[in-house]
Amino acid sequence: MIVEDFLKNASWNRKDMISTQPLSLKDIDEIFSLADIFKASLKDDKAKLPYMKGRVVVNLFFEPSTRTRTAFEMAAHKLDADVISVVASASSSVKGETLKDTAKNIQALMADMIIVRHSCSGAAKYLADRLDIPVINAGDGAHAHPTQALLDAFTMREKFGGNFKEKKVTILGDILFSRVARSNIWLLKKLGVEITLAGPSTLVPKEFEKMGVKVCYDLPAAIADADVVMLLRIQHERQRAAYFPSISEYARVFGLNQRRQSLLKEGAFIMHPGPINRGVELDSLLADSDRSVILNQVTNGVAVRMAVMKLCMKAKYGE
Ligand code: CP
Repeated sequence: MIVEDFLKNASWNRKDMISTQPLSLKDIDEIFSLADIFKASLKDDKAKLPYMKGRVVVNLFFEPSTRTRTAFEMAAHKLDADVISVVASASSSVKGETLKDTAKNIQALMADMIIVRHSCSGAAKYLADRLDIPVINAGDGAHAHPTQALLDAFTMREKFGGNFKEKKVTILGDILFSRVARSNIWLLKKLGVEITLAGPSTLVPKEFEKMGVKVCYDLPAAIADADVVMLLRIQHERQRAAYFPSISEYARVFGLNQRRQSLLKEGAFIMHPGPINRGVELDSLLADSDRSVILNQVTNGVAVRMAVMKLCMKAKYGE
């Protein structure tokens, strides 16, 4: 009943979830509050919640995924929806079918929602503008990964006791090609977080300062003050040139290792959206240490995605 009451009073009216950029503080609060309810119910009860009963969700992934795809599937199952996962390499897209035709055909098959991941920035918005059913962006090129940023911020909110004010987050790594970094910058700025970007200048251009963040090339200075250090892997699949001499040099100069851990503030914690390249951007022992909340992020991904899916369904279908 608590979910019904919450939804009756919610002001959310977005059919799609494309980016964190346009979200209002009220939108963010509604996602987090509904995710709180779903997270508590996931802990207490193994039963399914009937909030998307009879609905069909199609996962349309044109790029590999472990966490995002599985979390969306689990979220849909938990909400009692039927889930179909289309693997792009085994779909008719390899025969030349366009993204729009593929998605229109899935809609014609009476799907109620599409979750899409694609290597092209703008792919999710392109579909959202052309489909009647809700579209959720599970990552589009280097542009956006909104549910990742939402689960990251939800995890920080738990650790911060709900208060983001004056908190400092350093995002370290390949910012240039990272949809996770952009989505987190848009979201965390709204929440009042002070953000520092760090990494090699080739992957962290000064232009990012226009987003209202600090750019710092001095690693000890970038991490010393942080409440959170979020590591990002090198996105080799999006890079068309060499941005640094070698992986071992990157690890030596910009990796968060045991030695640099001593520079972190007491209580500072480590985040990573995954997949981790252990020993490159993050030391393996640190990834598994008490400072790490990486697996909390993954767990929170289910409740946050349940909330996003349910709110978008309500906006479209009124239920
Ligand atoms: N964080 C993330 O998007 O991981 P996957 O690529 O495994 O989905």
